[in-house]
Amino acid sequence: MNATETQKKTPLSLQIINAPNGLHGTFKVPGDKSISHRSLMLAGLVDATSQVRGLLPSADVFSTRDVLRQLGVEITLVDASTGHWQVKGLRQWQEADHVLDCGNSGTTIRLMSGLISGQNRYAVMSGDKSLVKRPMGRVMKPLSQMGATWFGKQNNTLAPMTFVPSEAGLNGIHYVMPIASAQVKSAVLLAGLFAHGDTTIQEPLPSRDHSERMLRAMGADIQVTDAGVIHLKARQIDVLKPVDFLVPSDASSAAFPMIAALLSPHSDILIEDVGLNPQRIGLFEALKKIGANITIEHERLIGGEPVGHVRVQASELKGDLTLEAVDIPAMVDEIPILTVACAWLDGTLSVKGAEELRAKESDRLLAVATEFAKLGVKVELFEDGLVMQGNPDLCLPKEAATPLSAWHDHRIAMALSVMNLIHNQRNPKHSTLWHLDDPTIVNVSFPSFYDMLNQLQTA
Ligand code: S3P
Repeated sequence: MNATETQKKTPLSLQIINAPNGLHGTFKVPGDKSISHRSLMLAGLVDATSQVRGLLPSADVFSTRDVLRQLGVEITLVDASTGHWQVKGLRQWQEADHVLDCGNSGTTIRLMSGLISGQNRYAVMSGDKSLVKRPMGRVMKPLSQMGATWFGKQNNTLAPMTFVPSEAGLNGIHYVMPIASAQVKSAVLLAGLFAHGDTTIQEPLPSRDHSERMLRAMGADIQVTDAGVIHLKARQIDVLKPVDFLVPSDASSAAFPMIAALLSPHSDILIEDVGLNPQRIGLFEALKKIGANITIEHERLIGGEPVGHVRVQASELKGDLTLEAVDIPAMVDEIPILTVACAWLDGTLSVKGAEELRAKESDRLLAVATEFAKLGVKVELFEDGLVMQGNPDLCLPKEAATPLSAWHDHRIAMALSVMNLIHNQRNPKHSTLWHLDDPTIVNVSFPSFYDMLNQLQTA
């Protein structure tokens, strides 16, 4: 690996900074993780050179980059300051010499399973201690229905997972998805690019549609009916044209400074060029219902995705907030940080229909309830959600009952760090730093996370 590609060194954690005027600043968060993965994968599929700008330089995206390189795709850094990479794709990938290591990245392993099925090359994929526990039957099953041969650990439900090529290639299917998952939908769509027949997909609830938008931009015939059925024509791999990608800032990463500013008195921040895909901004809508002062400025379309600046001003959150299954896909990664915000809510947070959170990088429902309990905040846990009574006067203990754990999960680490910052901002006389076991796990999606939080306190 080129030395200039290594990730920026992260300060170990949050710093205590006395910021009586709250959080301030105009800034950007790094590139969207979902779109970054897809940019590399899709550019890697065509016999041409494409440019990707604004790529997220994080461990998860580097897992996708490194897997693609093993398959013969050439990916080179052009300019680190703008996240500019050049991708020399290859219509027919090579067979890799080693196991494809997807690290901590569910998006890498699941989306690549669709592409490997289509490329029809022997491959073995695996990942870290979290990834090998996450459900993979959800992709191996539909891909097998399309004619792909996959074997996985524990009766074809877990990684490591192995693809065995076949003569016949893939057929299209009509897939009625049992769960709302953009990763599963994308795996089937990406395999469908290579299928000798149309692929149709019906989701129980709409999930993020970055794959559909990006494939359409490359010329694929992909339509969505009024009933929400996604229809991809056969053999679109043969019509894909190279395009250059511009990655917007990640709404899921923006969620952390947003909540920090909302709950820190006197704050006023502007986060620029945030991706505002309707299936990604459920958190914004939920927060507005309980009085959050969030406004969108300079909204426009970039590369087929809505983008805008997000202004957040400190607000006292008030009222009961109930989220149902229908609300979850558009904020599936934001529930832990929403729970942090609602610890100071003058009302009750109820989350239902969110059992998918148990299948993320950690069991995020259990992680939140366990870590909050160490801070004396009671969360009632259910199989599919949680209930928590907030308190605007909440003052947390100087030390957690036992050291806090990030559960080897970037979003849990960031949520707990923001909780610490908000506590300090609201209770300056009781400022503290809790010990967190694994702060560098934030590198999975947001390597500059602690720099950003520390700067917001000094601006
Ligand atoms: C993602 C989809 C979501 C999300 C993940 C990224 C994607 O997962 O949680 O962080 O890029 O498609 P599911 O599709 O499994 O819900």
